[in-house]
Amino acid sequence: MDLINNNFKNKDIISLDQFDQKSILKLFRETARLKKSSPKKLLSVLKGKIAGMVFFEPSTRTFSSNTVAFKRLGGQTVEYQNPLVTSSAVKGESIEDMVKMFEQYCDIIVMRHPIKGTLKKVADVVEIPVINAGDGIGEHPTQALLDMFTIWEKFGKVSGLTGLMVGDMLNGRTIHSLIGGLSIFPGNKIYLLSPSSLKLSREEYQLYSKRGIKIIEISKTSEIPSNCHFWYWTRVQKERFEDKKVYEKLKLSFILTKKLIEEKAGKNTLLMHPLPRVGEIDLEVDRDPRAVYLTRQAKNGMYLRMALFKLILKE
Ligand code: CP
Repeated sequence: MDLINNNFKNKDIISLDQFDQKSILKLFRETARLKKSSPKKLLSVLKGKIAGMVFFEPSTRTFSSNTVAFKRLGGQTVEYQNPLVTSSAVKGESIEDMVKMFEQYCDIIVMRHPIKGTLKKVADVVEIPVINAGDGIGEHPTQALLDMFTIWEKFGKVSGLTGLMVGDMLNGRTIHSLIGGLSIFPGNKIYLLSPSSLKLSREEYQLYSKRGIKIIEISKTSEIPSNCHFWYWTRVQKERFEDKKVYEKLKLSFILTKKLIEEKAGKNTLLMHPLPRVGEIDLEVDRDPRAVYLTRQAKNGMYLRMALFKLILKE
């Protein structure tokens, strides 16, 4: 994988491991600039460019925000949701042949796939840039970048933070990318709250700890420290369980409630969730002004993806 090294031009975005502090902050500054720009002026940025959106797994946010981001910059998209039904994959075409075709027609590919490592494989096959929109239990780099942007926008920094992550540490790709991203900056401390069978893999725990991020694993809500900068709630990843009875038992292990917020959150704690949510947030929390999952966090996804497309294809 190519390192970004402050230069996004024609680069693939596969993992947070490609990033350093300078590159992430460059992306954040561009995102902030685009948020303030006149939408009309942006329509010429990617005029004449075409993106292939290929999603082998379902998506609401990542598919629509990438598609809208590309169109808001004046580009066009060719879209495959569920290609196992709608493309020649149904006739047995290999993923390698499929992406070679997109390489002939498009300027960039955004792909989601259920198997970890597939996006790296795809990036090795084609010359055009490839963006990982989620590869199984692997990574979801653009989600982590938009999450970090949302934190940066609020606190003006992504270092020296204390955060709480809750849910499925084992299978949650947004969790893996976010821990990877926060480990690039100094002084970050994260508390991980999960059922014991869904803890971060020991390989990942060791890898990220070695990079300097302090990881503290907890098992009860009573162990949540007060005054975190952010809470990052996630769902238990149903689609990764072979035995759905096990999923049913674990799915609502930890619920974000108004009461818990009153007990443990600070007045500035950002309440985040990558979504979709499936019962692990009480709906009354939505009205809390600190809750950004349905509003700012999701909208930032569109702006951050606009910035990424611009930096990769234009600059
Ligand atoms: N956050 C996220 O990846 O949502 P979707 O699965 O709806 O794209």
